[in-house]
Amino acid sequence: MGLRSDLRTIRHMAFPRVAGTTPAERMESYYRSTAEDYDAFRERLLHGRRALMGLLPTTPGTHLVDMGAGTGSNIAHLDERRRKECRRITLVDVSASMLDVARRRVERSGWDNVETVLASATDYRPQDGQVDIVVFSYALTMMPDWFAAVDHARAILKPGGTLAVCDFYVSRKHPTGGARHAAWRRHLWPAWFSHNNVFLSPDHLPYLRARFSTVRVRERLAPVPYLPARVPYYLFIGTKD
Ligand SMILES: C[S@@+](CC[C@H](N)C(=O)[O-])C[C@H]1O[C@@H](n2cnc3c(N)ncnc32)[C@H](O)[C@@H]1O
Repeated sequence: MGLRSDLRTIRHMAFPRVAGTTPAERMESYYRSTAEDYDAFRERLLHGRRALMGLLPTTPGTHLVDMGAGTGSNIAHLDERRRKECRRITLVDVSASMLDVARRRVERSGWDNVETVLASATDYRPQDGQVDIVVFSYALTMMPDWFAAVDHARAILKPGGTLAVCDFYVSRKHPTGGARHAAWRRHLWPAWFSHNNVFLSPDHLPYLRARFSTVRVRERLAPVPYLPARVPYYLFIGTKD
């Protein structure tokens, strides 16, 4: 926590160390040295996560899967009623270092319905049938095959199940509805974030709308620590017909 942690994170973002031949190896190498500092900085960078978790339609017995769950901070953002209602909460990630932090959080908090699974969002399979809710928070932008991850989430969801997503994005130049971002935003932010293998896309929201029945969309601008500009992010809640 504090300035030292911020400086370590900023140095890591300025000079990211990424090695490996598969997306999973590259992701683990990116996070290995920084997983412990992750939460303090991301709490001020990744907006909308608490709001997203507050919109989840949990009912008693829900199986919730958080894809690209990282350190499991979303479960801390889930209120106690929703957390306890879930029969099972599965935190899926390809980074063992991030899941180590998540596992320690789960043990420390005594969440006995939460498990961690080292797997890719494109091939994780629940052992006991289809699930009720799938969450992606700031994860799709780090998945090269994000459309395959969305399709896979749809496949493992029960009919009527909920997909909940929040992430950075940019609008299309001529969106058919919703926010339209200025040219400098559409050019600056994808270039800025791609340095850290975060790929902002104008196609997330149109694709999510095409694959799910939209329940709610929220488009906002959020502050970025130590920078004078605001970055666009969205919340999407949809159901599988
Ligand atoms: C920016 S972090 C977000 C973590 C967490 N969801 C949050 O909101 O703080 C992105 C996470 O996605 C994970 N990730 C990237 N590609 C993945 C994939 N194909 N399958 C599962 N997890 C993946 C990374 O390892 C990382 O933990």
